[in-house]
Amino acid sequence: MNVSMPMAAEPSSLQIAESLLAFWADSGVDAVLLDEPIDRIEAGKFVPPPPPPGRAGQPSATVSPIRPALPGQPDVAGAVAEAQALAAQADSLERLAELIAAFEGCPLRHEGAATRAVFARGRPDAPLMVIGEGPGADEARQGAPFVGRAGQLLDKMLAAAGLADRVFITNTVFWRPPGNRTPSPAEQMICAPFVERAIALVKPSMLLLVGGASAKSMLKREEGILSLRGRWFEWRSADGALELPAMPTLHPAFLLRQPAAKKRAWTDLLTLAERLDRPHRPD
Ligand code: URA
Repeated sequence: MNVSMPMAAEPSSLQIAESLLAFWADSGVDAVLLDEPIDRIEAGKFVPPPPPPGRAGQPSATVSPIRPALPGQPDVAGAVAEAQALAAQADSLERLAELIAAFEGCPLRHEGAATRAVFARGRPDAPLMVIGEGPGADEARQGAPFVGRAGQLLDKMLAAAGLADRVFITNTVFWRPPGNRTPSPAEQMICAPFVERAIALVKPSMLLLVGGASAKSMLKREEGILSLRGRWFEWRSADGALELPAMPTLHPAFLLRQPAAKKRAWTDLLTLAERLDRPHRPD
């Protein structure tokens, strides 16, 4: 017997494309590549910002240590200078958020699938500023830092230490590094003027530096987080005008993988909360 089956409609090219994208997303592909390769080792090297001019506005007689940007490589010094000029214009956190969102100079903005800037959340006059590494997938989707699983653990720990409503939370970079890689020193350096401006506007009493990438970049230290955590450091702005006590601690994403380390992060938070509440005694 011959039974005629109804013919399935051919999928449209849009459906094929959507199904392929869904397959890639399920497989963990979350970034597209550029036409030209980027040398991340070269791009991540430290390039200091321009030195101040010599006396009486004369250019300094010393040779500038800045390497000109090579073709195809990000102009880190130029991007830092642009970020500094923009950040200086921000007279409020709202304006700072707008300027960051419009800033094109951070290579991360052009790398990942998500181009949305993730700036900050929390109290604009918080006594404690929490600085993480960089937004992840959940943060890029929702436009706020530390809103994924790691962020939920961070919130629980802050609440348990009595700090929940006393924080302003941001990151060393404002765009998600593709594949959740660690942001490069160059990317952190380019975003640093905005982080510094946020600190100047919020005027916290102290900083909590969450994770090794944040601690190393903010404190210009090379040691690993297991040696830095739980100790007090003095954070200084690039121009030396601002100084604050800063404590590095373990990243909540690490704590999710290593729950036994929670005890150490908890001790750090209690030490910090105690100092925050200590009445100021002049020396
Ligand atoms: N990890 C971070 O360091 N920052 C976030 O905002 C989220 C996860």
